[in-house]
Formats: sequence, C-alpha cells, structure tokens
Amino acid sequence: MRKIAVLTSGGDAPGMNGAIRAIVRVGIKRGFEVYGVYDGYQGLVEGKIKKLGYSDVSEILAKGGTILGSSRLPEFKLDEVQDKAIENLKRFDIDSLVVIGGDGSYRGALALSKKGINCIGIPGTIDNDINGTDETIGFHTALSNIIDAVNKLRDTSSSHHRCFVIEVMGNNADSLALYSAISCGSELVITNKTGYDEDFVISEMIKNEAVYHKRHAIIIASEKIFDVDKLAKRINQETGFSSRAIVLGHIQRGGSPVPEDRILASRMAGKAIELLLEKQSGQCVCLKNSEIVAKGIEEALMETNKSKEALYCLFEDLV
Ligand code: ADP
Ligand code: F6P
Repeated sequence: MRKIAVLTSGGDAPGMNGAIRAIVRVGIKRGFEVYGVYDGYQGLVEGKIKKLGYSDVSEILAKGGTILGSSRLPEFKLDEVQDKAIENLKRFDIDSLVVIGGDGSYRGALALSKKGINCIGIPGTIDNDINGTDETIGFHTALSNIIDAVNKLRDTSSSHHRCFVIEVMGNNADSLALYSAISCGSELVITNKTGYDEDFVISEMIKNEAVYHKRHAIIIASEKIFDVDKLAKRINQETGFSSRAIVLGHIQRGGSPVPEDRILASRMAGKAIELLLEKQSGQCVCLKNSEIVAKGIEEALMETNKSKEALYCLFEDLV
C-alpha cells in the first residue's frame, strides 16, 4: 500500500482543515495509507509524523487554523535540512507529500520534489498571492473577517465624524485590501498598485468632508506600505475629520472558514489525490475559471501578477 503524508506550512489559513480532512478521507478511499506531519517543515525535520485515520479528521471542517499545526523554518532552504526531512519520510516508507501553504511552502515542496519525493502543493494562504491560481484557501474567510470589522468601525466613523485608517494583512499582495475596499464602500484604497502619496490622501479627505459632506471616511491600506498612525495624525490635524489608525492583523486569519473556503479546500484536496495516483510530482493545484487544474509549481509561482485593473477602475467609479 502506498504511503502519503500531508503537512500545513507558513501562515495558517481557514480552510486548511477542510483540505487535510479531504486528503485523509479521499486518500484512504483511493487506497493510500495517509500520514499527518505536525508543525510544517519543522515537524518534518524533527520526525513528527503520525498515521491518520478516518475519525482523526472528524469535526474539523468548521474549525479555523490547522489541526496539524504550522511553522516557519528558514533553514529549510539548506540541503542538509531537506535531507533530514527526506530521511524521516523514508523511515515511514512515505514516497509522497502534500504541502498546504503559500509561495514559500511551495518552494520547499519544489526542493523536495527535485530530491525524489512526489510533492503536490495546495494553495493555503489568506494573502491570495499565488498567481497561478485565481483563489487560495483562506482568502474568502479573511475577506469576510475584514468586512465584519469594517462594518463595525463604520458605525463609530459616522457617529464621531471620524476617519479610520485601516491596515489589512495580506503581505505585499493587494487582493484583500482591494476586495474589502469594494465590499465595504471605503473612500480610499492604498496598495502596492495604487502607490502612496500622503498629500493626495489629505486632499481626498478634505474633499470627502467639504464637498460630499460625509460624516464618515474609511481608508483601507495594505500592510507594509506606510505608517498608518502617522497618516491618521495628519488627517486629524489637517482635515475636518478626527482620525484613528487600526491594524486588523491576525484577527483576519482566524475563525471558522466560510463555505467558499470549505468547498475550495475539499475540491483541491480531491485533485491532489488524483495527481498522486498518477505519480505526479512538483505540481500544484489551481483554481482557473472555476475549474480545478494542475500546474507545475515553478510555472504557478512564475506566472505574472493577476491583473486587477478593472477592479481598480470600478473602485474609482464608485467613490
Ligand atoms: P508561506 O508558505 O505562507 O508563503 P513562508 O514564506 O513563511 O510562508 O514559507 C513557509 C516555509 O517554507 C518557510 O518557513 C520555509 O521553511 C519554507 N521555505 C520558504 N522558502 C523556501 C525555499 N526557497 N526553499 C525551501 N524552503 C522554503
Ligand atoms: O502569509 C500570511 C500572513 O498572515 C501575511 O499576510 C502576513 O504578512 C504574515 O503572514 C504575518 O506573519 P506572522 O504570522 O508570522 O506574523
């Protein structure tokens, strides 16, 4: 009987559990013996590997996070550390590994594939920044968490004639900021694509207040672009709005996955098992125009950024 393993790596994402559950259940149904690796590549190097049965994945579909645990292990780039991981897989006679994670985790999987382990990647990250796939597992839940938070902040914004500068997580990618800005009807969105011009932001806020007579203003900004506290202070001093900065941070990453993420996770895991049955390696599972397809990991990582030009134009027309 062929033995396969599954791990989750990098930042956890809601829906990872749905993918683990489907790998175990579909895997067993297709005749594999399935093992879970605990704590990502760190656990793989330390040999934290355990056989998983049908009931080990009961009641996890609705849970956020990952029951297998996750980690970041920068040393996994080193040959000798990867070799240790492979030794551990061989000890269990495991020839295949499903890696659920983001682009960094994919690079680890690619390295193991080149050393003879059949690796398949499943995109699990709230950032939605793997260009080969239209969506990643966790993105929709994080988006929904942001919308919940912004809806609440808007109440105070209107009551207090206040501008909130809201920093959303998402690494250097713009998906979460742009989609939440459209969903929440924010006054401004700032991402790596829009760029950041502080004087322009101030003039926009003055316009919202003086021309449109708004009592509220919401600015949504991607993380790692500028200092939200500094901007909020300037808005406070130079416009008619009082202002506060809010960093949503890890609140976005937690909670029960929304249906879109549960379904995507289950579909993608089913495809991963299909690929392992065909003894494929160095491939990842992608959502493309509503279909689940396979691509080489290198190809998926190298694809150019998904163009969101139309969405940026739509946002501009809506404000
Ligand atoms: P994500 O997978 O969410 O993008 P990271 O970028 O932190 O998260 O990557 C997760 C882990 O993948 C890293 O901590 C490291 O163990 C492994 N990894 C990242 N880049 C490489 C690489 N170039 N080669 C091998 N392993 C890597
Ligand atoms: O990749 C997921 C992510 O949440 C990014 O959006 C964010 O920049 C990063 O991880 C935060 O990492 P950590 O959880 O290590 O603080």
